[in-house]
Amino acid sequence: MKITKAMETALNKQINAEYYSSYLYLAMSVYFEQNNLNGFANWMRIQAHEEWGHGTKILTYLLDIGAGVNLAEIAKPENSWKSPLEVFKASLSHERKVTGMINDLYNLARSDKDNATEIFLQWFVTEQVEEESSAEDIVSKLEMADGVPGALFMIDKELGQRVRVQE
Ligand code: FEO
Repeated sequence: MKITKAMETALNKQINAEYYSSYLYLAMSVYFEQNNLNGFANWMRIQAHEEWGHGTKILTYLLDIGAGVNLAEIAKPENSWKSPLEVFKASLSHERKVTGMINDLYNLARSDKDNATEIFLQWFVTEQVEEESSAEDIVSKLEMADGVPGALFMIDKELGQRVRVQE
C-alpha cells in the first residue's frame, strides 16, 4: 500500500513525538519518586510505557505498509517542576499539543483519501480524548487539594493503584 511522502514524513514525526512523550513522563516519574510521591510516580511510569507503545504502534504500521521508518533523536525532556500541580498542568498542555498533531495527521489522511491511514489514526483520536480527560481530572483534583492536609496523600494513594494494561 502506498502513502504519500508527506504522510510518511508526518507519521515519522509523530513517532518521535510519542517517544518524546514517553521520555517526558519518565522524567515526571523521577520527579515524583524523588519527592516521595510513589503513587504519582507509578502513574507516570505507566504513562511512559503507554507512550512508548503509541510510538511503536505507528512504527509497526509503517513497516506493515512498506513505508520508510526514520528514527530521529529524542529531545531532552524538561525535568524540574515546582509542584505536582505544575507537573500535571504541563502534562495536560503537552497532551493538548499532541491532540493537535493527531488531528492534523487525520485531516491529512482525509485530504489524501488515504482510507487505511485514516482508519489507523482513529484509535489515536479516541485515545487523545482519554488522555486529555485523565490529565484534566488530576489537575482539578490537585487544585481542590490545595492547602488541604492529607489530600495530596489521598491522591497519591489513588494513583498508586493504576496498573499497566498490555495492549
Ligand atoms: Fe500518545 Fe499521550 O499521546
